[in-house]
Amino acid sequence: MDMTGLSTAAYIAASALFIRSLGGLSSPVTARAGNTQGMVGMALAVCATALLLPPAALPILAGVVVVGLGIGAVLAQRVAMTSMPQLVAILHSFVGLAAALVGYASQLGGEHPTGAEGVVHCCALYAGVFIGAVTFTGSVVAWGKLEGKIRSKPLMLPGRHALNLFLVIAVVAMAVPYAMDPANGMVYLLVMTAIGGFLGWHMVMAIGGADMPVVVSMLNSYSGWAAAADGFLLQNDLLIVTGALVGSSGAILSYIMCKAMARSFWSVILGGFGADEGAAPAKAAVGGPVGEPIATDVDTLVKELAGASSVIIVPGYGMAVAQAQHPVCALTKNLRARGVEVRFAIHPVAGRLPGHMNVLLAEANLPYDLVLEMDEINDDFDETDVVLVIGANDIVNPGALDDPSSPIYGMPVLHAWEAKRVVVFKRGKGAGYAGVENPLFLHECTRMLYGDAKKSVDALLAGLESG
Ligand code: TAP
Repeated sequence: MDMTGLSTAAYIAASALFIRSLGGLSSPVTARAGNTQGMVGMALAVCATALLLPPAALPILAGVVVVGLGIGAVLAQRVAMTSMPQLVAILHSFVGLAAALVGYASQLGGEHPTGAEGVVHCCALYAGVFIGAVTFTGSVVAWGKLEGKIRSKPLMLPGRHALNLFLVIAVVAMAVPYAMDPANGMVYLLVMTAIGGFLGWHMVMAIGGADMPVVVSMLNSYSGWAAAADGFLLQNDLLIVTGALVGSSGAILSYIMCKAMARSFWSVILGGFGADEGAAPAKAAVGGPVGEPIATDVDTLVKELAGASSVIIVPGYGMAVAQAQHPVCALTKNLRARGVEVRFAIHPVAGRLPGHMNVLLAEANLPYDLVLEMDEINDDFDETDVVLVIGANDIVNPGALDDPSSPIYGMPVLHAWEAKRVVVFKRGKGAGYAGVENPLFLHECTRMLYGDAKKSVDALLAGLESG
């Protein structure tokens, strides 16, 4: 049987499945099918690759696939939804490391074609190792920052932009002697890898906590380009296609998130925003509301909800921490049964990963048509009776619109304060991710319902059911 033909056909099918998978992931309705298509595509890709291997290599492949599957399955079972960004970051570091090691394997293998093929080979090897090294150290630092092992405060070395520029120029300059004699170019490769590793570390160390979502998707994009470079090196078309899909979709996602946070891509990469995550809230704007937030209780809120005709729920990171999505959906059902219009307002960076809230609400079987994006619902708050802010903070901070001294100034936010009544569910005085004070809590229309979000929503539901 012609194994090459068979595996080429399988590669084409796998590429098509990956493209369909990405399309499916663009909406919660089709996301599950998209995931399945991606998994089938990957299984096909591994089988097709196995077809091309000499029989002696198959046991080794089977061994690493089984070990990899085992580790992946255990990790996926154990990881909490709130720790997903860390997992994604560390997985990117594996891709970066693998890409760099493939380059070294090829260098040590001693095959250095000549002519046009040689140029492509050299460029792919050099680029794959460089992007792989940047991705590896950058992703390890991103993991450390998200996991709280490394301070999220940006590291600002003096003259850091000039240093980065100098190092990039050095990497490009060393590519010339390497390309002229790749067989003896190991020393250039090693120095370039060290510089790449330093650049990845330095670039992500200079980025503040609030910009981490963009950094993680940017590293995702880098890992894709590193894999695509390895595709050229190994002359594997599927790796080129897959790498390009990951690289370009990661770049588009980074762009979308920068737009959602009203940040320029370059200012994120160059760093310094969102310095003090987890610290005490920064001071409120001069002239902003002063005083103490007013607390409310479950009984009062039950009465307010019973008399409301429209409600908007704004879920945030605290809903994920409390795992309150199921009672929140039960509450929605209860209110809708009473004839109350209930909708959800989803901010593009709510929670800690893209689509975080959509995933949680889909898991709790909330009908998709109740879930609206920020732009679709932001003009409706002023006609809304009650807004329930469940574990959200930064995404409803009016300081982002009117306080130029706020680190999140310029980020579009949900206009919750325009409603007749806003009730904020949170445990205490904890700041949001950006570590800034939120004037919404002192607004005349706002009441605070203190406590764990799940317990508060459970109590609210019990109150509505018994009333
Ligand atoms: P945050 O601003 O982080 O606010 C979450 C709030 O939830 C906190 O103020 C906290 O207050 C409360 N909370 C925590 N646990 C709770 C619990 N068990 N019950 C009730 N409340 C609880 O969240 P957000 O509004 O969703 O904004 C997201 C932020 O994360 C943005 O700054 C964004 O840039 C950043 N970020 C986003 C992503 C992506 S891609 N979505 C990734 C990384 C970072 P208490 O401590 O007082 O309870």
